[in-house]
Amino acid sequence: MTRELVLGLEVVLPDGSIFNGLSTLRKDNRGIDLKQLFIGAEGTLGIITAVSIKLTPFPDQVATALLGLASLDDAIKLYRRARRDCCDLMSAFEFMPPLTFVLAREAIPDLPMPIAGDYPAYVLMEISGSGLVDIADLMERFLTGVMEDGLVVDGVIAASQAQARNLWLFREGMNEGQAKRGPHMRTDISVPLSRLADFVRDAEQAVTDALPDCISVSYGHVGDGNVHLNVLPPAGCSPEDAASRIYKAKTVVNQVLDRYDGSISAEHGIGRLKRADFEQRLDPTRRTLLTALKQAIDPSMVMNPGCQLNFPAIS
Ligand code: LAC
Ligand code: ZN
Repeated sequence: MTRELVLGLEVVLPDGSIFNGLSTLRKDNRGIDLKQLFIGAEGTLGIITAVSIKLTPFPDQVATALLGLASLDDAIKLYRRARRDCCDLMSAFEFMPPLTFVLAREAIPDLPMPIAGDYPAYVLMEISGSGLVDIADLMERFLTGVMEDGLVVDGVIAASQAQARNLWLFREGMNEGQAKRGPHMRTDISVPLSRLADFVRDAEQAVTDALPDCISVSYGHVGDGNVHLNVLPPAGCSPEDAASRIYKAKTVVNQVLDRYDGSISAEHGIGRLKRADFEQRLDPTRRTLLTALKQAIDPSMVMNPGCQLNFPAIS
């Protein structure tokens, strides 16, 4: 995740002064790490004008595979196995439901189907590296092992960059496919990895119970414990009916999420859209800390007003 790659920041503060924290030190424990205050603040404390980023060697070998599995539970087991067997060389691990292929092809009709057969769950996995490791061999040995153990039922390894690109187009195209179906509920949730499969099962069931004519689509960055559990109203729904279903779906999913102590914003932030949901779930100590920071750094409340929280002015 990007936050972990940030070594330093330069920030223009609301009073016009400049915080010069453009360090490139990998290790620096001189007190409070101020740059972390500005990452994720969405411009409410200052404007970031420069960033120094930790880089890694460009991977000259990439292996991409699409795998068919029996369940999301198996996908989580597979992720743990991949963390052990492929170490830090795993560069992507995306969970996708069967509907992915339908949705992506609604956006990109000519996409060739990559895998025969239907499976309850799919994983798009990528291993990459540079130097002396043999990435293709690692992928093959890894998949042989997990298929022998029954964790993966079927899979394809991309034989060319073009094939790898086509596999990614299913993952990326499904977003456009959902957009083409009209207004729908989108989430950006994280729960602890050990509870992700249970969360998705419970939340999808709650949506089915509350909105039997809607479809849940859960997919995303399983390795980060991050899932996009989206809810699509039925075809031909009027804008008003879609809006009421979206509202209901959000309420139902967030109720389940609260039982799991999860996050309503794993990667996309709060902005204005999620301000109320964020505010409702803030514990008093965190609210006090956030307010104190805002009042200390931006006492005139000029930075991105209305974003994240309605901060009280200093009385
Ligand atoms: C994705 C974006 C929506 O994962 O976060 O597709
Ligand atoms: Zn995402």
